[in-house]
Amino acid sequence: MSDSSQWAIVWVDLAQGPIELDALREATAALDEVGAILAMREEVSGVQSFTSAESPTQRPRLCVYTRPDGIETLHAVVSGLLDSFGLTGSTHAEVRDDEEWKDAWKAFYKPLTFGEHQLLLRPSWIERQPGDPELEVVIDPGRAFGTGLHQTTQLCLHRLCALARHGLSPASVFDLGCGSGVLSMAAARLFDSAARMLAVDIDPEATDTTVENIEDAGLTDRIQVTTGVLEALPTENFDLVVANIRPVVLIPAAPLLRERLAPGATLTVSGILGEELDSVWQAYEAAGFELDTRAGGGRRHLDTWSALDLVLP
Ligand SMILES: C[S@@+](CC[C@H](N)C(=O)[O-])C[C@H]1O[C@@H](n2cnc3c(N)ncnc32)[C@H](O)[C@@H]1O
Repeated sequence: MSDSSQWAIVWVDLAQGPIELDALREATAALDEVGAILAMREEVSGVQSFTSAESPTQRPRLCVYTRPDGIETLHAVVSGLLDSFGLTGSTHAEVRDDEEWKDAWKAFYKPLTFGEHQLLLRPSWIERQPGDPELEVVIDPGRAFGTGLHQTTQLCLHRLCALARHGLSPASVFDLGCGSGVLSMAAARLFDSAARMLAVDIDPEATDTTVENIEDAGLTDRIQVTTGVLEALPTENFDLVVANIRPVVLIPAAPLLRERLAPGATLTVSGILGEELDSVWQAYEAAGFELDTRAGGGRRHLDTWSALDLVLP
């Protein structure tokens, strides 16, 4: 078992050798996509992409933050992704437990505000500042996905804030693939109306982290946390649902989610790369959903990631 104070970095470098500037630009864009996909993985806590604006001929590289027992998996996953993007490169890992490393890790997390100054999201080690939004979610991501830094999470947080501004007052909220619990906690802060809230994840480490975060936030009596999969959940009529998971889960989940939404309920599905959006939309349209264009919703994009806001008529 690895020491929990240790973290690891997997560096991803493109192969050296002569390369035309246009080809290098293409490779840099492809490596960014590799980084975006890696950032969605359970064992990955963050990805930084290094490119040099001053020196466009410099090779881009990715710094993938993980835990020591994630290194072996990542070597194999990165190699497969590089192949599928037509890139040639290499990986090497460093395991670190020194203070400098811990500070570097924490410097990754910055407080963020969402909506029209509606909601503050901050890591537990950064204090509130004067002028911060009154409503806040304090997150200690632990080993679970959900720092709020990832575009897919941000697409959901923007939507929750927009719906709150729009005056939505759901009686029930369902967070499928809760990770650190960030979306459930945001919904609890934004919607006092939500008497019933359920956060579900297939990964017990994620649900453990969610439980810890909601305990620290004093939200234990508002959010029920369950480890499991959608298929195993009883049918229920939720008013507001968020699911930030990859299409491999979202697409087959469409008819199952339909059975768990009340008529008129709104659903945001995120975790979708731009080129995957049409196939996710087709699955949800076939299951009877329509695009929810209220409050600026519909098809939304952030960098290479997309989300769909849907309504059950
Ligand atoms: C991208 S993370 C989202 C975490 C958080 N909701 C956020 O927005 O930051 C996706 C989460 O879905 C969980 N997950 C993956 N497949 C699942 C499934 N079939 N059922 C439930 N959860 C699943 C993963 O364990 C992971 O915690």
